[in-house]
Amino acid sequence: MERTFIMLKPDAVQRGLVGEVINRFEKKGLKLVGMKLIQVDRALAEEHYAEHRGKGFFEPTVSYIMSSPVVAMVWEGKNGVALARELMGATNPANANPGSIRGMYGMDISRNVIHGSDSVASAEREIALYFRPEELADYVKAGEEWLS
Ligand code: TYD
Ligand code: MG
Repeated sequence: MERTFIMLKPDAVQRGLVGEVINRFEKKGLKLVGMKLIQVDRALAEEHYAEHRGKGFFEPTVSYIMSSPVVAMVWEGKNGVALARELMGATNPANANPGSIRGMYGMDISRNVIHGSDSVASAEREIALYFRPEELADYVKAGEEWLS
């Protein structure tokens, strides 16, 4: 089982897409193990996007992520990191599969609804940035036995 860090970005919260997106993760079969609505501050935003420091979109992306509360989540499942990226679709909603979350709900690369870790190592780093270990639930979910 793999855990991945997922964030519903400011546009998702402001446009009322929170339930819609969570629904898709739930119905796919991933298990929610952590969730909170938070206001990201500059230090956290810059740490989150540290790999992009120096690029033209770094500052706008950092400012945008601080512009409204976001929903930070951890989801768990078989091949969870790559699976979540599949559900999300390509970074630019214009190129994303129309059935994916970004393809379905996004219009612009700078407002692409959702963040998801791009590797197991990134997931570990990002989960630790946003959650303390005791904020993550370790539990058996009814119905899990139907997934394998
Ligand atoms: P990136 O890590 O490349 O994409 P992803 O979110 O799919 O892992 O970029 C991080 C975010 O930065 C991306 O979700 C949106 C923003 N961004 C831009 O605004 N313009 C760009 O050209 C790129 C590459 C990213
Ligand atoms: Mg990325």
